[in-house]
Amino acid sequence: MTYAREPETTLLIQDAQILMPEGSWQQTDLRIQGSKIVEIGKQDPAPTDRVIIATGLALLPGVIDPQVHFREPGLEHKEDLVTATRACARGGVTSFLEMPNTRPITANQEQLTDKLNRAAAKALVNYGFFIGATADNLDQLQQAGPTCGVKIFMGSMQGDLLVDQEAVLEQIFATGDRLIAVHAEDQARIRQRREQFAGQTDPAVHSQIQDNQAALLATQLALRLSKKYQRRLHILHLSTAEEADLLRQDKPAWVTAEVTPQHLVLNTDAYAKIGTLAQMNPPLRSAQDNQVLWQALLDGVIDFIATDHAPHTLAEKAQAYPNSPSGMPGVETSLAIMLTQAHQGRCSVQQVSHWMSRAVAQAYGIANKGKIQPGYDADLVLVDLKTERPVLGAELQTKVGWSPFEGWRLRGWPVVTIVDGQIVYDHGEFNLQCRGKALAFGNG
Ligand code: DOR
Repeated sequence: MTYAREPETTLLIQDAQILMPEGSWQQTDLRIQGSKIVEIGKQDPAPTDRVIIATGLALLPGVIDPQVHFREPGLEHKEDLVTATRACARGGVTSFLEMPNTRPITANQEQLTDKLNRAAAKALVNYGFFIGATADNLDQLQQAGPTCGVKIFMGSMQGDLLVDQEAVLEQIFATGDRLIAVHAEDQARIRQRREQFAGQTDPAVHSQIQDNQAALLATQLALRLSKKYQRRLHILHLSTAEEADLLRQDKPAWVTAEVTPQHLVLNTDAYAKIGTLAQMNPPLRSAQDNQVLWQALLDGVIDFIATDHAPHTLAEKAQAYPNSPSGMPGVETSLAIMLTQAHQGRCSVQQVSHWMSRAVAQAYGIANKGKIQPGYDADLVLVDLKTERPVLGAELQTKVGWSPFEGWRLRGWPVVTIVDGQIVYDHGEFNLQCRGKALAFGNG
């Protein structure tokens, strides 16, 4: 028996301002067939096309967020893969790389496979997972997969995922060739300063306890080991002027670094306004650090942007410092925050897109993503660059329902998000049937 083949889904986006790979804008149409971009240029709709009229909207590659904590399994009271990926869809994030500090941690093949299975069943966007280094899982760090890389918490972590002994770090850097991503804060210095500041409940002391020097010491050590073994190193959420200056002087070709929107646009003044909601690791720094980080990003010393989306409930955050947990949500606001910065003249929309999409795809060896080009995956976001709207708590999709940016008026909101050719978010509505795919990595 023969079956008539279902025609493959085609989607025609008409009259969008398309950000082309070389950085120019082209006002034209874009056709998607299945999960791929197949054509860019003016064309008539075919009878089977689903059409999106995008007049007045900009079309950008979907955001790839390379550092998030989505809490599943084990911490689902904070977030889960459904709420987290709804937040992604609303924020224009079409792919994410997730961290291993769940319960259980992700430190072996079984735990990694469990996460991949959960994401296949639930995630509305594309996904990849880090494998976490412990003092005794060297074999897994090389064998378990697929993974975007090895995550090392050099500091500000408890339990098995804390790897703060230089001899253990040295072994990890010396063995294998996968990307190593470090949370660089020096645990010995943090410990000592915690004692010094014991009894203080003002959350602003968080930035003094885990100070610039704590971050610099760990980044120096990671760089030293990376150079010794020529090991691919990525420095997560770079937060200080000192680290940026260090990389400006000495950054091997195999080293990359990222910064979060919050380390660019928030500083220690935030504690007076939002208290423990401003508490994260590494902590917020000074206005001077903001400036230096911006310049490092503009100059290419910092390669790309990650949110470090790390939700905690308001009840957890309401505990007095230091019992309040560190971390803040981010995937829903990151693109709008950065596009607002572009609108204010801090950078261009092209740079924002490069830092939030293409540069991430390049650094992690993610093929066919991060560019709008025929043959590339149809991971796209249509953005309204003209309407200014506030961040409203009631609209947030993250399970914790708060944002450090609540009330901020942003300009550059995602209005339609497309993942692998599926419209997952459209003007406030979600298609909860969509599923993302596992990402493949050049080094995983
Ligand atoms: O502020 C943070 N929170 N930084 C981290 O590195 C971990 C994260 C979390 O998981 O809550």
